[in-house]
Amino acid sequence: MLLIAGSFFPLTAAAQQKSTVTVTAKADAPVISKHIYGHFAEHLGRCIYDGFYVGENSKIPNTKGVRNDIITALKDLGIPNLRWPGGCFADTYHWKDGIGPKKDRPTIVNQWWGGVTEDNSFGTHDFLDLCEVLDTEPYLAANVGSGTVQEFTDWIQYVNHGGKSPMSDLRKKNNRDTPWGVKFWGVGNEAWGCGGNMTAEYYANLYKQYATFMADWSNKKEMFRIASGANGGDYNWTEVLMRDIPKNLIDGVALHSYSVIDWNDKGSSVKFDEKQYFETMKAALKMEELVTKHTAIMDKYDPAKKVALIVDEWGGWYDVEEGTNPGFLYQQNTMRDAMIAGTTLNIFNNHSERVRMANLAQTVNVLQAVILTEGDKMLLTPTYHVMKLYKVHHDAKLLPVAVTSPDYKFGNETVPAVSVSASQKEGKTHISMVNIHATEKISTEIKLDGIDAKDFSAKIISSGRLQDHNTFAQPNAITPKDFKDFKYKKGVLTVTLPPFSVVVFESR
Ligand code: AHR
Repeated sequence: MLLIAGSFFPLTAAAQQKSTVTVTAKADAPVISKHIYGHFAEHLGRCIYDGFYVGENSKIPNTKGVRNDIITALKDLGIPNLRWPGGCFADTYHWKDGIGPKKDRPTIVNQWWGGVTEDNSFGTHDFLDLCEVLDTEPYLAANVGSGTVQEFTDWIQYVNHGGKSPMSDLRKKNNRDTPWGVKFWGVGNEAWGCGGNMTAEYYANLYKQYATFMADWSNKKEMFRIASGANGGDYNWTEVLMRDIPKNLIDGVALHSYSVIDWNDKGSSVKFDEKQYFETMKAALKMEELVTKHTAIMDKYDPAKKVALIVDEWGGWYDVEEGTNPGFLYQQNTMRDAMIAGTTLNIFNNHSERVRMANLAQTVNVLQAVILTEGDKMLLTPTYHVMKLYKVHHDAKLLPVAVTSPDYKFGNETVPAVSVSASQKEGKTHISMVNIHATEKISTEIKLDGIDAKDFSAKIISSGRLQDHNTFAQPNAITPKDFKDFKYKKGVLTVTLPPFSVVVFESR
């Protein structure tokens, strides 16, 4: 099947035994925003409490209550932005409950996720100070569903106003003189569902009301307002938002899409068969169609591409691990998740003209996490290692690719087995490739068109079984390794990709 990046339509239907890829240098290609590699931390299960945050009195080494091992791992990953506090939780959250002396903070019952009572010890200062330590941009998702315009705009003034104002005075009283300068603001979350069960028309009106009063106190004049976006293939949602919201009030439209086999029967994260694997891959590859179609609608109303498509929730979603709280969404992370990450990030890279930000759900201990913790132990998942290898694409110039992929067939259905994206930065060319086939290796010829490279080195993430994962007993079972099974001659890379593997090449 011949696929041109940016299009999900097959150009020829003939199955191939070999894959061919052409990588072309294009002067006017977009830059892949590093914000595509963003993360998401909700007050959900053990993401914040007993995940990131263990409290200052914990025996686990921490900085202002946040685990040092997590800080180090996320700094190594170079996370560009972090979305907080939800998710569904965002539309129940009242930020003033999470400031001031911790002993005086009221509690909140987390109505969406397990009904647990939280003490609000992790609040605005804790989150924004953490973002400073991580050198990452905060992305605050504000309460529209059960909040008010006043509460929302007070939050902006509290975190961004540098002069004298009621909220900056309050911030200073809470021991923070300088504003944090938060750029990314989400106006509610999943307004079609947990954010208020609204229609697109109703939300568009509400959005305009909120956005009108969102003053940019940051002094940088770069506030970025993100509208709560569509649920997967709800194209009408994007159509209405793009049609009804004036472009001077909006910078991004969100989209949420999870790779789920069946919402009523999601299956185990580690005990799955090839059929379930194939179904998950089909769901993950659907992202190509989703971003293509949402982009086409956005192009109609915004040909200049001012408004970004922000996929601020994506990833694999399975049944929770046996014996864990069903409301906590704790799942393991296998080679299947590495395949979701590798293919999805290739899709985002190839659509980077419109997709300029995305957030994997969720960073620690929830859904497709990059980090899992148990007591004082921590492990990095295969998804973490994929994202780390793909770091080379952050803010790099996209190199468009044309891919002829063999089919991965299961039963009567097929999906393309090979996925590719490429970019150039600081004189180096990087090509990330994924073979999702469960059993077959695929030989691939990559032609470099107009690209100078003397030679290449490569890293691979692979394992013996699709179900393989890192455990607290064996945290390094899956890590990137050097990869040598390729040749480079006269602008052509010839490579054999093992089954279910991710390979990233770097030119020398
Ligand atoms: O990421 C888990 C939940 O999924 C989020 O809270 C919500 O926005 C989505 O439905």
